[in-house]
Amino acid sequence: MALFIAFEGLDGAGTTTQARLLADRLEERGLTVHLTKEPSEGPVGSLISLVLKRRLVSPRVGRPLDPFPSELLALLFAADRIDHMQAEILPNLQTGTVVITDRYLLSSLAYQSLGCDLAWLREINREAITPDLTVLLDVPAPVCMRRIEKERWQTELFEGVEKLSVVRKNYLRLASSRIGEEMSVCVLDGEREIEVIQSEIWNLLAARSWIPEGEAPSRSGEGQIELGLPRRSADPELPFEESS
Ligand code: TYD
Repeated sequence: MALFIAFEGLDGAGTTTQARLLADRLEERGLTVHLTKEPSEGPVGSLISLVLKRRLVSPRVGRPLDPFPSELLALLFAADRIDHMQAEILPNLQTGTVVITDRYLLSSLAYQSLGCDLAWLREINREAITPDLTVLLDVPAPVCMRRIEKERWQTELFEGVEKLSVVRKNYLRLASSRIGEEMSVCVLDGEREIEVIQSEIWNLLAARSWIPEGEAPSRSGEGQIELGLPRRSADPELPFEESS
C-alpha cells in the first residue's frame, strides 16, 4: 500500500524513535516500508548536515559562515527535498511501498520561518508532495533540551531553548491552520511513554483503515487512549514568530 507518512517535532521530541518503531511494526504486518529522513543522505542533505554542525567552511572566509544566511539554508532544505523526493520518496511510493520520513516540509515551515517569510517558504517548497499523514510530536522546548543534552556532547544550529520554544509555537500554529489541514497534521502529546505514543500513532493509521487486519502489536492498553490534542480552529492569518 503506497502511503506517505511524515514525523515532525522539535529536536529531541522523539520523531526518530517513533518513525523507526512504526516502520518495524508495519513490516511485522507484512507491509514493505522505506524509512527515511530529512536532511536526506543525498548530496544536498549531506551539505546541510555539515552546515548544522557548523563544519561547512567557506573557502574565502576560512571558517563557517556565522550566522549562516537563513534564506540560503531554506533553499538548501527545499533543494534537498526535491532530490529526496525524486531519488527516494516517489520511486518507493510508485512500487506500493509505505514511505515514512523523519522530518519533511513542516520542518521547513516551522524552523525556517525563524528567519524567512512563510509565503516564500511555501513557494520554494511548492513541488513537495503532500503526505497522507503528518504526525507532530508535541514536547515543550525545555524537555527537548534536557533530552538533547543527555544524548549529545555538542548541540546543533537550532538547538537552544529560546529558538526551540518559538519553533514549537510555529509548529502548533501551522498544525491548526489551513496548511495543517492540507497536510493532515495530527498533534500528539510527545511527553508520554514511548509505547503509549506508538499505540496512539497505530490508532491513527487504523482509523484510516491503513493497517492490515490483526492484533495491534502494542502492549499498552490500546483503545483507552484519546486521539491527539484538541485541534484549534484554522487561523492562517496568525503571524509567525521570528527568532529575536
Ligand atoms: P535532526 O532531525 O536532529 O537530524 P540529525 O539527527 O541527522 O541531526 O536535525 C535536523 C535539524 O534540521 C533540526 O534541527 C531541524 C532542522 N531542519 C530544518 O530547519 N528545516 C528542515 O526542512 C528540516 C528537514 C530540518
